[in-house]
Amino acid sequence: MYFVMLSLSLSLSLSLSLSVSLSVSLSFSLSLSLSLSESSDYSEVISDSIPSALAEPLPEFQLEPEDGFVVKNRPVQLRCRAAPATQIYFKCNGEWVNQNDHVTKESLDQITGLVVREVDISVSRTQVEELFGLEDYWCQCVAWSSAGTTKSSRAYVHIAYLRKTFEQEPLGREVRLEQEVLLQCRPPEGIPPAEVDWLKNEEAIDPAKDSNFLMTIDHDLIIKQARLSDTANYTCVARNQVARRRSSTATLIVYGE
Ligand SMILES: *[C@@H]1O[C@H](CO)[C@@H](O)[C@H](O)[C@H]1NC(C)=O
Repeated sequence: MYFVMLSLSLSLSLSLSLSVSLSVSLSFSLSLSLSLSESSDYSEVISDSIPSALAEPLPEFQLEPEDGFVVKNRPVQLRCRAAPATQIYFKCNGEWVNQNDHVTKESLDQITGLVVREVDISVSRTQVEELFGLEDYWCQCVAWSSAGTTKSSRAYVHIAYLRKTFEQEPLGREVRLEQEVLLQCRPPEGIPPAEVDWLKNEEAIDPAKDSNFLMTIDHDLIIKQARLSDTANYTCVARNQVARRRSSTATLIVYGE
């Protein structure tokens, strides 16, 4: 911009030749219209060769890698996809993943005509364990186009587990008719955290079907008003991708007058 303005004033002062000043003002108005349409980094447009810089944008991710859990010894697959992309690679914990560990697919977007690149890597339990304690294992994708590089978001890989012992198990008791009952359950610690279901005589309780039951966010079971038919064995069940575990069973007895 400065350069163009400088040469414009220079040529105007130095020569009044009509042809020169005409060509300069012509190029000036051309640059001006470019700066209006681009509006971002004007100086870069001037210094780069204009046609190629405008032809290809930075890569854009169509698919970013997602957090994953290693269950037992099953590796986690991470995938990402970007366009336009001349190259695409994964970086894990700040270091490039070996080229041979990438599975790459190239295709052409039928609508935009851009080159799409998709890449997969596999993260094993050992790889995650080797880093364990230092930081969480993470990976991200980097894609190239002639305009530059783009990084995807980070995906974290955790080792999934579910401990054996419940932190709290329900206790059996005897209650009066219409009394409110609280049966407690704190599932074993796990990653990802366990989901909890309650069983009444081995059948899952669905509070949506029986509004006399309520499950708290802490996984306790509340029976709002005990009925004779609530006399039963209650079990809390915790599960995630790794395991399903049962608490001890609590026998609830509801007695009348
Ligand atoms: C609870 O379970 C025990 C053992 O299976 C069974 O003997 C008992 O009848 C059950 N109690 C109720 C209230 O269903």
